[in-house]
Amino acid sequence: MTTTAPRHGFGIDVGGSAVKGALVDLTTGEFIGERIKIATPRPATPEAIAHVIVELLQRAEWIGPVGITLPSVVHNSIAQSAANIDPEWIGVNTTELFRRFLGDRDFTVLNDADAAGLAEVAYGDPRAREGAVLFLTFGTGIGSAMLVDGRLFPNTELGHMIVGKQEAEHQASSAVKDNLELNFKQWASRVNVVMGEYEKLFNPTTFIVGGGISRKFDKWGPSLDLKTPVFPAQLRNRAGIVGAALAMDQGMRP
Ligand code: BGC
Repeated sequence: MTTTAPRHGFGIDVGGSAVKGALVDLTTGEFIGERIKIATPRPATPEAIAHVIVELLQRAEWIGPVGITLPSVVHNSIAQSAANIDPEWIGVNTTELFRRFLGDRDFTVLNDADAAGLAEVAYGDPRAREGAVLFLTFGTGIGSAMLVDGRLFPNTELGHMIVGKQEAEHQASSAVKDNLELNFKQWASRVNVVMGEYEKLFNPTTFIVGGGISRKFDKWGPSLDLKTPVFPAQLRNRAGIVGAALAMDQGMRP
């Protein structure tokens, strides 16, 4: 009888409001045990975030490799942007930073929306693997992962595209919905403008929308009026953590 050892990995998703982590079964993309959530420190400086990551790993009692997402462009280990975390992140060598805090363990660092897109490709809607897919996350900001037949074009930042007079995420993130107390219909009309612009410029075959608010897709999805089909992500807000663990397992280098 042959048995296959279960593949486990640990993913940590650093977001504008919380740092979340969990052990992931990489065969199924499901969490093993509970997800640990710690409020994002203010200010969310590199060292403050690194401390939270260490605390989270201690709480989870996980000493193995870890994948970490950041809401930033991460190019050759260097964080190049910082929209919803402290500006101190810009220019930080994440390998050097986390090496100081994580010791000898293996880790990788990637953009949060890219991680979520990769997780959806691996474990989510099969349509994420076919054609030119724009995967979007709506949360504190708007994240994007551009996928071609399941392969990632990394570090796209469509949330910062100017649509009309403003950056897309300043008009249609789910944080904007909360801050302006918009109802789903009002917010969906803003999302429609933003996605309409993406559609015009990128002509994807499919949109997949993730982030916490994708759980309530039935409340706002039907109000969208786009030519391109839009589906809610199947992994919902689990995707960042799962994608981080998967990126580590696949040997993705920061
Ligand atoms: C950041 C992206 C990130 C997105 C979602 C944006 O503000 O620039 O890197 O993917 O928020 O967190």
